[in-house]
Amino acid sequence: MCGIVGYVGAKAPIPILVEGLKRLEYRGYDSSGVATMNGEGKVFVHKRAGRIRDLEHSMPGECPKANVGLAHTRWATHGEPNDANSHPHLSHDEKIAVVHNGIVENHSSLRTMLMGEGVAFRSDTDTEVIPHLIARFYEGDLETAVKRALHLIQGTYGIVAMHSEEPDKLVVARNGSPIVLGVGDSEMFVASDAPALVAHTKQVVYLEDGEIAVLSPEGFRTTDLSDRTIQKDVNELDWEIEEIERGDFEHFMLKEIHEQPLSIDRGLRGRAMSDFGDAKLGGLNLDRRAFFDIKRVCLIACGTSLHAAMAASYLIEELARIPCAVEIASELRYRNPIVDANTLYFAVSQSGETADTLAAMREVRRKGGIVLGVVNVVGSTIARESDGGMYIRSGPEIAVASTKAFTSQLLALTLFALKIGRMRDLSSTAGKQLIHALNELPDQITTVLDQSDSVKEIAHSILDASYVLFLGRGGNYATALEGALKLKEVSYIQCEGFAAAEMKHGPIALIGDGTPVIFLCPRDHLRDKTLSNMEEVKARKGRIIAVCNPGDERVMALADAYIEVPETHNLLTPFLTVIPLQLIAYHAALALGLDVDKPRNLAKSVTVE
Ligand code: M6R
Repeated sequence: MCGIVGYVGAKAPIPILVEGLKRLEYRGYDSSGVATMNGEGKVFVHKRAGRIRDLEHSMPGECPKANVGLAHTRWATHGEPNDANSHPHLSHDEKIAVVHNGIVENHSSLRTMLMGEGVAFRSDTDTEVIPHLIARFYEGDLETAVKRALHLIQGTYGIVAMHSEEPDKLVVARNGSPIVLGVGDSEMFVASDAPALVAHTKQVVYLEDGEIAVLSPEGFRTTDLSDRTIQKDVNELDWEIEEIERGDFEHFMLKEIHEQPLSIDRGLRGRAMSDFGDAKLGGLNLDRRAFFDIKRVCLIACGTSLHAAMAASYLIEELARIPCAVEIASELRYRNPIVDANTLYFAVSQSGETADTLAAMREVRRKGGIVLGVVNVVGSTIARESDGGMYIRSGPEIAVASTKAFTSQLLALTLFALKIGRMRDLSSTAGKQLIHALNELPDQITTVLDQSDSVKEIAHSILDASYVLFLGRGGNYATALEGALKLKEVSYIQCEGFAAAEMKHGPIALIGDGTPVIFLCPRDHLRDKTLSNMEEVKARKGRIIAVCNPGDERVMALADAYIEVPETHNLLTPFLTVIPLQLIAYHAALALGLDVDKPRNLAKSVTVE
């Protein structure tokens, strides 16, 4: 979704702002813009539909020097992606510039009111009401005017505002859209996401909903909408600049696929207790009694995180023998969920900012449920608002298509399943076997990654397909869903994932001569069943692509092409079967000449409904 960057200090703001916007490109956007002072006490704005490079190339030769600036990448919601609708937006007197993430829900009544007062609008956006409202209340103090304007606004926002008459100040506010402040040396930064700050400072402050911050080169102060002072902690970011750069890889997606041996290793370190066949998970905040009282687990998520949760649900039920439900966050939040004291809820989210997951988590907590977070981004809203949880430790994920977060989320939940299983019926022998297999995963993933060239050939063979079907059973049903999601989001090839046995209840109608059907068929207790499904596809002249274990001749005899993944514990196969599917998606998108890291219409972190 949209990205925000702001700066106040002695350096030239435009290069800092543009570099910050580039760090946020991964969020998904369709236009961008910057505002600063023009050197004559007026606001300078430059904005463009398209990529940040279009903004840069069209920038006037000499950019104004000033102490303050704000910038934005817009992902269109209200009004098409064009220059006029891009942010920053100006007040009618052109003294106030505002960037905004979120949605002003009552924008149309505010627009009618402002137009009735003679304000002329320049864009179709909901955002434009904000600078006009601030101007309406401005009496020499931007902070007060912003607060008065926000009292009239319903909806979600992360905003940054500046005024030409207060050239050393940014006013920032948050309600439902993430905002993080960066504390520098006689300078301050603000952004919607930490990657925009890492190159400048690691000292950050996370704003909470209802908080307003005023930034100047000397520092910041925070209040609420009623002017009460709020003391904020300064946190240390644990990201390194190299982690948010592509390094030698052509794309972030490829880099992140290749980081999985490392991220799995990091996720295991200090948590997997080989000697006891158990797991140590520090942040759950549950005492022993609470563990014993758990009668049901419920995993709440969206997208790839939902698929990781689905794969994990099989492990939780099998290892802990506790029923585990998986809920689509957007459905749960509006269903008036039945929350009970013996269900342990998890909000699973890479970004920790997904609007639907956050809202579902808040709804469950409002009803008295305990919700733990399974989150990647440290300090994100879900991480802060949950009752405890596990960081998945996969490191920053920049590509819009989530890859390493899937395996790291699955790992964190596997360790939870192991821990709770060991407190119940799981023997130490079974626990040790699982940990042994987990410890082998990094090397085994490397083995799969080494086959990238043959996977590429397979990816090239499906480029002309009008439809691709992914099939799996058990935990690999979730992998099939994830494989289809990955392929469609980066290559735009029509595809879907199904539980293998469901094929004959519908999708089989789509299988004809040469239709690619990707089977996940490790040598587990379900393999023979899956083999029957392969026969059914074969009989209809479908083209079988199998992900199987080495030397599985029955699969190989049926398949037109196959990719081998090493054998592992029966419950852990999704960790390995998903890797070739990520690579297929990547290579297909690349061969089709698509923008792999920034697929159309998608955003990394979906912070609006
Ligand atoms: O940050 P989250 O894990 O909560 O994000 C959930 C989905 O928006 C995300 O997984 C999305 O589906 C990705 N584009 C998948 O690659």
